[in-house]
Amino acid sequence: MVSLACILGLVLVLVVKCSGSGDGELMIGLGSYDITGPAADVNMMGYANMEQTTSGIHFRLRARSFIVSQSESRLVFVNLDACMASQIVTIKVIERLKERYGDLYTHQNVAITGIHTHAGPGGYLQYVVYIITSLGFVRQSFDVLVDGIERSIIQAHQNLRPASVFINKGEILDAGINRSPSAYLNNPEEERAKYKYDTDKEMTLLKFVDQQWGPVGSFNWFATHGTSMSRTNSLISGDNKGAAARFMEDWYNKGFESQSLIKSGAGFYKRPPRRISNIINPDFHQHRRELMEIASTIQSSPGRNITSVAKRVRRRQAEADRPQFVSAFCQSNCGDVSPNVLGAFCIDTGLPCDFNQSTCNGKNELCYGQGPGYPDEFESTRIIGERQFKKAVELFQNTSEQLKGKVRYRHTYIDFSRLSVQLSEGGEPVTTCPAAMGFAFAAGTTDGPGAFDFKQGDDQGNAFWKLVGGLLKKPDEEQISCQYPKPILIDTGEMHEPYDWAPSILPLQIFQIGQLVVLNVPGEFTTMAGRRLREAVKEVMTSKDRDSNVHVVLAGLTNTYSQYVTTFEEYQIQRYEGASTLYGPHTLNAYIQEFKKLASALMNDEPVEAGPQPPDLLEKQISLLTPVVMDATPLGASFGDCKLDVPVGSTFKQGDAVTVTFWSACPRNDLMTEGTYALVEIFVKSTNKWEAAYDDDDWCLKFKWSRPSKLSTRSYATIEWQIPEEAVSGVYRITHFGASKSLFGSVNHFTGSSSAFAVT
Ligand SMILES: *[C@@H]1O[C@H](CO)[C@@H](O)[C@H](O)[C@H]1NC(C)=O
Ligand SMILES: *[C@@H]1O[C@H](CO)[C@@H](O)[C@H](O)[C@H]1NC(C)=O
Ligand SMILES: *[C@@H]1O[C@H](CO)[C@@H](O)[C@H](O)[C@H]1NC(C)=O
Repeated sequence: MVSLACILGLVLVLVVKCSGSGDGELMIGLGSYDITGPAADVNMMGYANMEQTTSGIHFRLRARSFIVSQSESRLVFVNLDACMASQIVTIKVIERLKERYGDLYTHQNVAITGIHTHAGPGGYLQYVVYIITSLGFVRQSFDVLVDGIERSIIQAHQNLRPASVFINKGEILDAGINRSPSAYLNNPEEERAKYKYDTDKEMTLLKFVDQQWGPVGSFNWFATHGTSMSRTNSLISGDNKGAAARFMEDWYNKGFESQSLIKSGAGFYKRPPRRISNIINPDFHQHRRELMEIASTIQSSPGRNITSVAKRVRRRQAEADRPQFVSAFCQSNCGDVSPNVLGAFCIDTGLPCDFNQSTCNGKNELCYGQGPGYPDEFESTRIIGERQFKKAVELFQNTSEQLKGKVRYRHTYIDFSRLSVQLSEGGEPVTTCPAAMGFAFAAGTTDGPGAFDFKQGDDQGNAFWKLVGGLLKKPDEEQISCQYPKPILIDTGEMHEPYDWAPSILPLQIFQIGQLVVLNVPGEFTTMAGRRLREAVKEVMTSKDRDSNVHVVLAGLTNTYSQYVTTFEEYQIQRYEGASTLYGPHTLNAYIQEFKKLASALMNDEPVEAGPQPPDLLEKQISLLTPVVMDATPLGASFGDCKLDVPVGSTFKQGDAVTVTFWSACPRNDLMTEGTYALVEIFVKSTNKWEAAYDDDDWCLKFKWSRPSKLSTRSYATIEWQIPEEAVSGVYRITHFGASKSLFGSVNHFTGSSSAFAVT
C-alpha cells in the first residue's frame, strides 16, 4: 500500500525539483556526539564560583552539528552543550578537519557555538581570566570537546544527502525576563517604543527534511540564559536548552506522529523503553505478586572486573539504517535575559531586590533570581526547557516557508583593542579600548551573585590566582578615559603574563542560507544590542530590494568568548553586563560597523580581508588541578559492590524514587563517552536476561559521585532513579559502571548491580 507519507514525500521532491531557483539543490547532514566532560573535581564554567565543582551527572552534554552544502559552497554550524565556544577549541577542531578533509572546512565556514549552560566542566578556554576558578587549564575538559565536535562533524559529513530546509518563527513569552531592566531603560525611549517587550521573545527554527527519510532534525535560536541550575549545583547538566534538546529528540524517537503534545506536565517527554514494552507482557500489571516473587530471589551482584564499558540505551535503540534525529536549541542575544522568570528576591526578607542595584540592604549576596520551579532548580530547568521544547515542536510541525537561494558565508578577524569606529551620526571617529572588566563584574548578577572571588588587592583566592594575581597591571590614564565611565577592576586587555588574560582579536562571521542570515558573534549581546546589530545587517541585506524576505538571527557565544556586549546607553549604567563589555562604550558600534562590511561583501560576492590571526596559547597553558592519584575500597569491599542496597523484595510504584549507593572510583578515570555510569535494567522473563531501560542521559536518572573526605581514595556512586509515570511494571535493578586507578596508574573497569526490586 502506498502510504500518505510516501505521496507527500514524492510531492515534496517534485516541488523541490521544479522550484529550483538556479542556486543548486541543498545537501544536509546532521551529527551528534557526547561531549560530557569530567564528572568530578572540575570547576563548572559560568558562575566562576570556586566551590562549584562537578560531582556527577544529571544528563549528558552533546555537540550537535549540521552541514548545509550547495554545489561548491558549504557551511557547518555546531551547537555545544557548553557554556560558550573557546578560541583554542575552535583552532584545534579546524586543524583536525584540515588533516581529514583538506580545505573543505575552515575558520571561514565552520561556526562553533555554546548554549551557555552554567553546569558544565570548565577549564577549556585559553585566556587567563576564564580559567582562574578552574585552577588553570583542564586538559580533559578540552580534549572531550575537540574530539566530540570532530566526531559530530564527521557524522554530519557522512550523512550529507539531498534535503530541504524550512524556517518558522514564533514567540515564547514565559522563558525569559530582563535581569537588568534599569540598564535597558537607559536606551532611548523612541527606540524602546518600537518593541513590545524588554527581551526578545522570538524563536527561529530550521527544520531539515531529508528527501528519503523525511524530517531528520531541527536547530533553533532563542535568547535566555543557561542559569536555571544554580551556582551551587554540582551535577553536569545542559540546563534548560540541553533539557529541551533531550526532550525533543526523545519525543521524536518515540514516534512523533502518534504523540499528542497536549499531555500536560512532566509526562510526555519521558521516553518509555520502547523495545522493552514490546517484550514485557502487559498482563504483568496483574501479576504484582509474581513480580515481587521474582524480585525477592535476585540478590545484588557484587562488583566485578570487566573489559568493556556499557553502551548507552539510546544508541542501542536507534534504528541502524536511519540517521539519528538531531535537535539543537541554540543561544542568541541572552546577555540580559534570565530564565528565572519569577523575578529577583532577597533570600532573607523575601522582598524584591533593589531595582537599580539588585541588592538587599546594600548587599548583592542575598539577591537571587527565582525560576518557575523555585526552590527546586531541576524543576525550573525542566519547565524552562519544556517551554522551549513545546514551542519548537509547534514550529517544527507547522513549517511552510522553505529556504531557497544561495549558501554563502564571510569571516574576518578584527582586533578590537584599538579599532577606529565611525558613528552613524557622524563626527570624529571614536575608538574601542583594550579589554577591561569593571567593578560591577565582581558583584555578579541575580542569577549568581558575588561571582568572582578575585578583587584587586585580594591576596586570598586559589593557587592559580596566587600565581597570576601578582601580575595585575594598573591601567594608565588613556585606558581609564577610554573605558569611562567603567571603573576598571582588572585591566585584562593589557595583561599578557604568563599569557594573554583576555582576547583582543575576535572572529566575526556571517552565514547565509537563502532567506536566513546567521550572525555568529563571540559574546553575549544584550537584548537591545542584538536588535541594533540585526537591524543594521538587515538594512544592508535588503538594500537592493526593500521587499526581500530576510530573517536575521544572532548566534551568541560563537567561535570564541569575549564576555558581554551592551549598547552605549546601557554601558553608562555599569551593571554587570556593562562592566563585562570588554572593549569600552563603543564595542557595539564596532560590531555594527564591521558586520555591515561583512554583509555588504556577502551581498556583492566580494572577498573580505582575513585579518590578524588570534594566538594559539595551548603550549603555554598552566594546569594546577591535581590528577587522580589512586582509588581504593575498604577491606572486604570491591569496586562496584553495593554500599547501600535496596532491601530484598522491595516494591515501588511509578513516581517513587529508588536510591542505591556503590563503592566507586573517580569518574575522571574514564568519561564513559557515548557510554554511561548508570543503568536501570529490567528483567525479561522469557529470556532470563536483563535489558537496559534508562541510562545517565535520562532525565529520571541521577548519577551522584562523592568522597567521604577531600583527600580520600575511597568514593561512592549514588544512583537515584525517579521512576517515571510511564515506566512499565516489572522487575528492575540498578547497575553502576566505573573505572578505578591503581597506585601504579593502570585503569580497570568494573561494574556491580543492586538487588532486584519490583515496580508495579
Ligand atoms: C579487579 O582487578 C583488580 C586489578 O587487577 C584486582 O586488584 C581486583 O582484585 C579485581 N577484582 C575482582 C572482583 O576480581
Ligand atoms: C533608579 O535610578 C533612577 C536613576 O537614578 C531613578 O530615577 C529611579 O528612581 C531609581 N528607581 C528605583 C526604583 O529606585
Ligand atoms: C500554522 O501556520 C499557519 C500559517 O502560517 C498559522 O495560521 C497557524 O496559526 C499555525 N498553527 C500553529 C498551531 O502554530
